[in-house]
Amino acid sequence: MLRKFAVLAAAIISMAILVSACAKKGEETIKIGIAGPMTGDQSKMGMDFKNGVQLAVDEWNARGGVLGKKIEMVVEDDQHDPKQAVAIANKLVNEGVAGVVGHFNSSCSIPASKIYMDGGMPMITPATTNPVFTEQGYWNVFRVCGRDDQQGKAAALYVTGTLKATKVAVLHDKTTYGQGLADQFKSNLGNSVEVVYYGSVIQGDKDFKSVLASIKDAGPQVLYFGGIYPEGGLLVKQASELGLNPACISGDGCIDPKFIEIGGSAAEGVYLTFSPDPESFETAKAFLAEYHKKFGPHGPYSIYAYDAANIMLKAIADTGSTDGKAVAEAIHKGVFDGALGRVEFDDKGDNKIANYVIWQVKEGRFVQVTN
Ligand code: ALA
Repeated sequence: MLRKFAVLAAAIISMAILVSACAKKGEETIKIGIAGPMTGDQSKMGMDFKNGVQLAVDEWNARGGVLGKKIEMVVEDDQHDPKQAVAIANKLVNEGVAGVVGHFNSSCSIPASKIYMDGGMPMITPATTNPVFTEQGYWNVFRVCGRDDQQGKAAALYVTGTLKATKVAVLHDKTTYGQGLADQFKSNLGNSVEVVYYGSVIQGDKDFKSVLASIKDAGPQVLYFGGIYPEGGLLVKQASELGLNPACISGDGCIDPKFIEIGGSAAEGVYLTFSPDPESFETAKAFLAEYHKKFGPHGPYSIYAYDAANIMLKAIADTGSTDGKAVAEAIHKGVFDGALGRVEFDDKGDNKIANYVIWQVKEGRFVQVTN
């Protein structure tokens, strides 16, 4: 009797294990990591990433997912802190994501890229522009955006060629991105320009009056800032309060409505380098309409995050697996027609077609002023 009971119990347990295994298999998803500053003063950029990827994932899932499985987003917050970026990279590797769309800041993407490489997974950043990211020789890194050697040069050409400045002040936020971009700008100014001030501020500080007073004494015609909008907005505001009114120019880190919100009327006239306005792209029409309907106005990198997610998912679909190396190989070899138009990557993982133009704040909004 006891033996019969034991056999029955064993049969029930095996059945339960089998049922649960089947259920788990049925529930299986393909996970995609999204990493960026989801909280804190740069969270607008993280949300733009998340929304852009969400739109791509919703579209794929509506078509049945990828490799017959639904796609699941795993969103992680790096708080634009390199240490936190490494911690969440490890978390995403442990989660078993097939790939990562992220990070935003160069100071986060660069250390995280090694963790993802060691974990065997590709990463596509929508926004990391520091050249080092793709110069490390890693097989797993890609960027949809351009690079700061291109961006810094475009700013320098505008300042010398169009603004005809001869005295320039250069300021950065001591980050990998901010300092790297400021240095690229400076090194492209040429011999006819005197750098009358070169210095830095600390990310997170709120009072820049003393540094701005020194810049005022140096008498520049142009003030260049390598950094992100929370500090950039305060800098132009406080410069104007001090009666320091040179032409100001910055990069992609400041091209967000938050910059204008923080800078107020002092943001008017500020120049920025960024890629051409997607509002003029035929390829971006459907994306923009859908994004605006779901999330409201798009941010600078929303479309980059959307294309990055689509590139990752298409490579998984084309490869027929989530093997990181195979997916990365497919991304390297692929031709992707997305909302930004055609994207193809070189051997390092840089977008072959990345173009910087000049934008300006006019009547409280960003307007592209060169082609
Ligand atoms: N382009 C900026 C960076 O690389 C956001 O950090």
